[in-house]
Amino acid sequence: MADPIRNIVILTGAGISAESGVATFRGPGGLWEGHRVEDVCTPQALRRDPELVHRFYDERRAKLASVQPNPAHSALARLDAEWSGGLLIVTQNVDDLHERAGAKRLIHMHGALRSALCAMCGARQGWETALPPGTDCTGCGEAMLRPDIVFFGEIPYQMDAIAAALDAADLFVSIGTSGAVYPAAGFVQEARRSGVRTLELNLEPSEGSHWFDESRQGPAGVLVPQWVDEVLGGE
Ligand code: OAD
Repeated sequence: MADPIRNIVILTGAGISAESGVATFRGPGGLWEGHRVEDVCTPQALRRDPELVHRFYDERRAKLASVQPNPAHSALARLDAEWSGGLLIVTQNVDDLHERAGAKRLIHMHGALRSALCAMCGARQGWETALPPGTDCTGCGEAMLRPDIVFFGEIPYQMDAIAAALDAADLFVSIGTSGAVYPAAGFVQEARRSGVRTLELNLEPSEGSHWFDESRQGPAGVLVPQWVDEVLGGE
């Protein structure tokens, strides 16, 4: 019989929010809401055209007001509340649907739309409205606030905590992510190397499906509640 599961690490991507009406990144044409990633999601783009980059994230932030968590977010929040073992939800998403569903053990490895980051002093502050370039940081006073988003070429947040959780995990589950962007795409390989069981829940086979012990295909709103029932039922 397989060893009992105590520690679970869950990686989520844009697919878990798709049924809430948040656009995925690699949709039709490979564009993100009509933009090439390199025009809105790189440090070079921020330097070249701060108006465009800030406006892009202002629009994404404003959109959050009209979307709600779906059954997949709610199921993970229930798992977080009821699972007595170790658990960490690592999301690549910059929306706040996991926390609005009630998840607590959560890391936003690619940053968060409802947060502003000072490019001068590194302080963060909650941010709900538009964030024009040149906004003053309330910490250091410099006009250097930017969207708190990890751009391509920047290091994702809390990588040490994620590595420690993966190290201690018995089960790694990847939900709604294409497996196209590292380092998150490499978590399944790290998990496998240390003998962790791996499960993928995605609408279709992803670029990394072959790395998983098991891959289930279907909408997150159906697959995730089913899987959470299984896990909590077996505790
Ligand atoms: P992608 O848009 O690359 O992939 C979304 C995945 O979700 C695809 O494999 C879809 O098949 C799947 N999917 C779509 N709808 C689904 C549904 N209803 N249920 C389950 N799965 C569904 O998004 P990510 O993998 O999250 O980085 O992208 C990774 C990173 O690339 C993002 O965090 C972002 C982007 O550039 C930054 O912003 C730094």
